Amino acid sequence: VKVAAVIPAAGRGARMGLPVKKQFLQLEGIPVIGHTLKVIADSPVVHDIVLVASPGEEAYCRNAIVERFGIRKIAAIVPGGSERQESVYNGLLALSADTDIVLIHDGARPLLRPEELPAIVDAGARYGAATLAVPVKDTVKLSGEDEFVAGTLPRERLWLTQTPQAFRYQLIIEAHQRAMQGKYTGTDDAGLVEILGQPVKIVAGSYENLKITTPEDLLVASAIIKARRASG
Ligand code: CTP
Ligand code: MG
Repeated sequence: VKVAAVIPAAGRGARMGLPVKKQFLQLEGIPVIGHTLKVIADSPVVHDIVLVASPGEEAYCRNAIVERFGIRKIAAIVPGGSERQESVYNGLLALSADTDIVLIHDGARPLLRPEELPAIVDAGARYGAATLAVPVKDTVKLSGEDEFVAGTLPRERLWLTQTPQAFRYQLIIEAHQRAMQGKYTGTDDAGLVEILGQPVKIVAGSYENLKITTPEDLLVASAIIKARRASG
C-alpha cells in the first residue's frame, strides 16, 4: 500500500499571538514544522509527503526547512487556503493517483511518536478512517448560551482528537468534496467522514502529541524534547 502524508502548515497562528508564525518558531534548535516533517519523513511506513504552506511561503519552506534540515520524501509544496479544511484539500489534490492511504497531520504537532504511525495507518486501511485520540482527563461540562452548566458529559466516552488521521484516499477526497458542496466546515478531517455516515476508528495515542497552539504549549513541548534527548 502506498501511504502519503498531507501536512497542513498554512495557518496564521493567531492564538499564539507572536509575530513569527508558530510553525516557524524555534523549538530546541529546530523550527516546529521541522520536527513535524522529520518524524513523518523518517517513518518507513510513509512514502510521500505533501507540505501545505501559506501562499507565497512555498520557497521559504523549501529552502529554510526542507533543504536546510534535509527532509526527504517531499513530493510537493502547495499553497494553502484561508481555512485548514481548504489547505488540506489543496494538499489532497497534489497527491499522486496511486495513493492508497492518506495521513493528515498538523504541521503544529511536532511531538508525534514515530511508533504511532504504523498503528494509525493500519487502522485507516482496515476501517477506512481512523484518528489518534487521548481520553479526556478533566470533566467536561456543556454550557447553555448563558454560561451556566447545562449538563455533564460522560467522561469515560470522551476523547480529545489529535492527528495524524488516516483515510482511504477515495474516501477522504469524497468527504472533502461533499463538505465543499454542502458549504460545511469541520474542525478536523475525520469529522467530514462522520458526516458521510462512515465509521471512524479511534486509536489511543499519547498525551505528548500536543498541538502547539498557545504560548504555554511551547514550554511543555521543550520540556518533552529535553526529556526525550536525556533518555536517549
Ligand atoms: N492550517 C492550515 N491552513 C489554515 C489554517 C490552519 O494549513 N488556513 C494548519 C496550521 O498551520 C496547523 C494546523 O492546520 O498546522 C492546525 O491548525 P491550528 O492549530 O488552528 O493553527 P492556526 O490556524 O495557524 O492557529 P490559530 O487557529 O490560532 O490561528
Ligand atoms: Mg486555526
